[in-house]
Amino acid sequence: MKILFLNGPNLNMLGKREPGIYGTCTLTEIESKVREKAASRNVEIEFLQSNHEGELVSLIQQALGKTDVIVINAAAYTHTSIALRDAISAVEIPTIEIHLSNIHAREEFRHHSTLAAVCHGIIAGFGPESYLLALDAAISVKANLKP
Ligand code: DQA
Repeated sequence: MKILFLNGPNLNMLGKREPGIYGTCTLTEIESKVREKAASRNVEIEFLQSNHEGELVSLIQQALGKTDVIVINAAAYTHTSIALRDAISAVEIPTIEIHLSNIHAREEFRHHSTLAAVCHGIIAGFGPESYLLALDAAISVKANLKP
């Protein structure tokens, strides 16, 4: 089984970026935790980050036929991107939307997700743990897929 973790804009700044909201863990440290847990579950993962919307669209398209489940923290593009939503719909790979922060407890413009309706489910508000919960969720989604 293979899971693609996709990270959107400014998540490469984790550790330094608004630590009061996002904590002090870097994206590399989060990736290490995910890799460690994935290895213990016998799951292959790819962990990528891009600041560019079109690049994220291409990465979703390239996952076709190679990835069982996508876990995406689209960061600010969550709230704006019809292109990412259409890419998720187009590839028909089960996708889990995740966030470090609880987007519903923050500014109103973060309450809406353009992606949520085409995602299998959403995990938000658990800090780096959101990524580890998403790994469990992805394994469960794959196990429950109709052949
Ligand atoms: C975020 C929440 C988004 O609203 C924000 O734009 C981000 C990070 C999160 O993980 O909490 O960049 O996706």
